[in-house]
Amino acid sequence: MTGQVQTRISQKLGIRLPIVQGGMQWVGTAPMAAAVSNAGGLGTLSALTQPTPEDLGHEIQRCRALTDQPFGVNVTMLRTVSPPPYERIFDVIIASGVKVVETAGNVPEAVFSRLREAGITLIHKCTSVRHALAAQKRGVDIVSIDGFECAGHPGEDDVPGLVLIPAAVRALQVPVIASGGIADGRGMAAALALGAEGVNMGTRFVATVEAPVHDRIKQALVAARETDTRLMFRTLRNSARVLANATSEEVVRLERREGGARFEELRPLVAGERGRAALQSGQVDDGVVWAGQVVGLIDDIPSCAELLERMHRECRERLAAAAALC
Ligand SMILES: Cc1cc2nc3c(=O)[nH]c(=O)nc-3n(C[C@H](O)[C@H](O)[C@H](O)COP(=O)(O)O)c2cc1C
Repeated sequence: MTGQVQTRISQKLGIRLPIVQGGMQWVGTAPMAAAVSNAGGLGTLSALTQPTPEDLGHEIQRCRALTDQPFGVNVTMLRTVSPPPYERIFDVIIASGVKVVETAGNVPEAVFSRLREAGITLIHKCTSVRHALAAQKRGVDIVSIDGFECAGHPGEDDVPGLVLIPAAVRALQVPVIASGGIADGRGMAAALALGAEGVNMGTRFVATVEAPVHDRIKQALVAARETDTRLMFRTLRNSARVLANATSEEVVRLERREGGARFEELRPLVAGERGRAALQSGQVDDGVVWAGQVVGLIDDIPSCAELLERMHRECRERLAAAAALC
């Protein structure tokens, strides 16, 4: 065994450890992304966290001032009535010379072509093998596959990582990043054993020193158990995994009511600005707090450097212990 876990993912992304911080709305700011990149992983800015494409340009510059290591930008493409100005967002990303983009959602083929032509390494994050195959066909370099455990949108197929990761690895030629349910070196070792060549984490990074959220939110993640997430929007076929709190319990209650709930009714509860305010004020119950089942495995609030070193060490120990069984 060499001293370092190295894969096609770490090589393609030019990073020391194949550990990626997935795009996180309201959390993926320059200090967060730079901390992950400085620790040897790939930090990711969240494009939609910035009010305008110009602000995203400034955030990219701010991140560059904080790290000389590679980092990415997440662009989540939502199907909404008034979509963000995606064209201008991509203009800014290309002009700024960012080398890695993580896309998620419904990405038009022209977007992939445009980013590829600009020499950008494309990670597409999705929740099913069929979407992964479609993305591979459209020329993405890496697929990040999000199991049912994940924070955010797990899709509607409900296939957890233990099945989804090897199913994706079997079907794809491009390297696969395992996402959802990973918080430590045990999860990383398992993902590598299943054939993934890197891991992506969201929730675990929210409970780090550098995450730009109130300490009470981090403490709530530490306190939560693996049963403490809720799936909102199941009835709207747009499932979203979030921390169990007064807001998400109310959303689920309204959805389960006879006749269900229309999105318009839920909107005031789930408004992005309300979630952002909760993250910043630390009033855990006041808005939606995105979190995955992996909260049950989070026991501390380390720095990103401590976290990544520990994960890497634990991962190697677990792989060696497993090899010793053979
Ligand atoms: C606070 C938070 C916000 C997130 N926002 C986004 C987002 O805007 N776009 C996206 O593609 N994924 C988003 N995600 C999902 C993560 O990028 C990642 O895929 C997911 O957290 C992996 O599952 P895990 O939380 O079990 O590690 C978010 C996750 C969290 C915890």
